[in-house]
Amino acid sequence: MSSTGSRRHAPATLRNRDAILSRLTDHLPQTGTVLEIASGTGEHAAYFAPRLPDGLVWCPSDFDPAALADIDGYARETGCARIAPAQRLDVAGPDWTPDRPVDAIFCANMIHIAPWAAACGLIGGAGRLLPPGGPLLIYGPFSRDGRHTAPSNADFDASLRARDPTWGVRDLEGDVLPVAAAAGLRLRADVPMPANNFLMVFEKEG
Ligand SMILES: C[S@@+](CC[C@H](N)C(=O)[O-])C[C@H]1O[C@@H](n2cnc3c(N)ncnc32)[C@H](O)[C@@H]1O
Repeated sequence: MSSTGSRRHAPATLRNRDAILSRLTDHLPQTGTVLEIASGTGEHAAYFAPRLPDGLVWCPSDFDPAALADIDGYARETGCARIAPAQRLDVAGPDWTPDRPVDAIFCANMIHIAPWAAACGLIGGAGRLLPPGGPLLIYGPFSRDGRHTAPSNADFDASLRARDPTWGVRDLEGDVLPVAAAAGLRLRADVPMPANNFLMVFEKEG
């Protein structure tokens, strides 16, 4: 993360945004509201929303109040009216509720850089808020069946846990799938992405 003037910039968003966008269009509905959890700088929102179908409204959010002005600033620059004002949402809190009904939820690079309660809250909230068939898309690194998918991910996991013992790369099969099943979500797609990341697409059973 860096800053230009007073606004923050996340260089990784420039590297991963096209690959994510190409997969988002496979899994998002053509119309409705996409809630983004943990929008960070807001650069993903500003890139994706103008390139997605006209019937979609993108609703960015973050639990850090300081992030909201940056998100709205990047959104304003796009001139795209289909980006809602950023809202403060802490998904680790109980019963977090967005300011409108949602049809899909997207979250990039949060569940490993936050306590496990945030992942559980994200997935539990998706189970509570999504309509039947509605997707939850989680982008980032995952280990699989207890094994890292690359040495660099093992190093990254160790560095995260050294920074904060409640952080760390999550295991799809051991950690995430049981929580998803309890929330009424099934894994629709398991999409390998560049740089040893995945886009995990869950869908609300109904
Ligand atoms: C590494 S940044 C990722 C930002 C952006 N999604 C991206 O890919 O560049 C992690 C973000 O998660 C947010 N976050 C951490 N815990 C959260 C929580 N409990 N609820 C919502 N957002 C949270 C942080 O404020 C931060 O913006």
